[in-house]
Amino acid sequence: MEHDPLLIDRLRDDLMAAGYGVAGVEEVLGTVAADALHREEPVPALRATEGSGEPVAVLVRTFLLGSAVPVRRLERAFRTLGVAGAVALGLVELDGDDVRALVDLRPYAAVDGGGEVDWWIASDLGELATGRALRTDHVLGVGGASTTLAQVTVRDPRALVLDLGTGCGIQALHASRHSRRVIGTDISRRALEFARFNALLAAVPLELRAGSMLEPVADEHVDLVVSNPPFVITPRTPDMPAYEYRDGGRSGDAIVRELVEGVGAVLAPGGVAQLLGNWEVRRGEDWHERVGSWLDASGLDGWVVQRELQDPAQYAETWIRDGGTTPDRDRDAWAARYGSWLDDFASRDVEGIGFGFLTLRKPVAGAPTLRRLEEATGSVRQPLGPVIAASLAAHDWLEFHDDEGLLAAHLAVAPDVTEERYLTPGDPDPQVVLLRQGGGFGRAVQAGTALAGFVGACDGDLSVGQIVNALGALLDVGADAVAADVLPSARGLIRDGLLLPSS
Ligand SMILES: C[S@@+](CC[C@H](N)C(=O)[O-])C[C@H]1O[C@@H](n2cnc3c(N)ncnc32)[C@H](O)[C@@H]1O
Repeated sequence: MEHDPLLIDRLRDDLMAAGYGVAGVEEVLGTVAADALHREEPVPALRATEGSGEPVAVLVRTFLLGSAVPVRRLERAFRTLGVAGAVALGLVELDGDDVRALVDLRPYAAVDGGGEVDWWIASDLGELATGRALRTDHVLGVGGASTTLAQVTVRDPRALVLDLGTGCGIQALHASRHSRRVIGTDISRRALEFARFNALLAAVPLELRAGSMLEPVADEHVDLVVSNPPFVITPRTPDMPAYEYRDGGRSGDAIVRELVEGVGAVLAPGGVAQLLGNWEVRRGEDWHERVGSWLDASGLDGWVVQRELQDPAQYAETWIRDGGTTPDRDRDAWAARYGSWLDDFASRDVEGIGFGFLTLRKPVAGAPTLRRLEEATGSVRQPLGPVIAASLAAHDWLEFHDDEGLLAAHLAVAPDVTEERYLTPGDPDPQVVLLRQGGGFGRAVQAGTALAGFVGACDGDLSVGQIVNALGALLDVGADAVAADVLPSARGLIRDGLLLPSS
């Protein structure tokens, strides 16, 4: 890709003038074709845009669907850049009277901590556009994992952010909105070319460095590391293609372990690292033990959320298909790769593969105080970034408040919390009371009589101690018994944002 700033400015102007945004594309395609395209099915989109000279339709056919379009039509869409400018940037190539895309270029819209963003992201054309299996140095566009990481990232102001394995640069672009400096690194020079192009197109300054893992930033003190690393667990057999964007070149889940254990070396005190990852669940071992041992070795605060668990066969199918091999296309290659994957997992007694996200933090002083590993496999309300930031702050608040301090504090129920009561018909007393969080992780906490009464009284007016005393008298058990019952649960509710300290 070429990086001529003048041509990129013209490209931006033309894309904007054409209305080539997320809404514009959905409008020209209609809901059915847009949904089909999200499922990687191009036929309805091809039909919706066939024969159209409308600039958005022409851009969709060129850059999303990989179709050849007449030069004169693209010329109308690129009013100031011209087809010659698009060729010079390496976006398209001429093919007689037609033009074909060399890259995928699509609008991207999101809401992050800084509000709405609208960018265009260039990456390699996918299988849908080329009809071929991906090259091993394929540069990925924005996918589901990219969006997950962008949404779980804490977005408070930072001096220096590192996006390790920046690919097309999407995490770095988001980071630029809340940090003074952003460094994006990658082992793939092609990826860095795309990231540079996308940064210029978004008019965002990024520092881009080539190199593996933490080596390009060994001398930096980073306030936030974000990484959607190449975490896919792939057998290291000679016949197996290794894709740069997903296969970290290590055996098993070693790349995620290496990052967890090593990232503290570049974190500034108080700095946070957020990673996506896969981990192996081995026979006779709980996933908490394996990932927990990485946390212990890291010397960092750690919070791991396992979102999904796949068995080895499901995992193999997902990633063999991702590489473009399917049983319909090549049954023998499919069977051979499937076998290699199962052999690889069997060699380490792997019974399951966890997927999730990790939040690590370097203590400002002293030893780590946070070690949390949990499963959250249900639906969550994204973005979780603000929820994670609030929970880290709540953890620190709890560290500074022993039970005496907690009794002196005032708490208020978070506005998204509701109480559910389950009663046998005709029975005046509920058998089960659930406190349900409407946002964030959507947690549901079962509350006994004392806890339900306690939470119901938390409106910020009375102190925790006053509520505990009143409940002790009301329930006729004494304040100490209520405190012993309620305070540990109250701590959990504060940590998870169902109760908010107001003093
Ligand atoms: C899954 S992609 C993530 C791209 C992008 N950050 C996102 O969130 O969509 C992983 C990226 O890591 C890069 N990568 C692979 N091995 C690496 C290594 N050892 N060090 C740094 N980056 C690496 C790949 O080239 C690829 O761009």
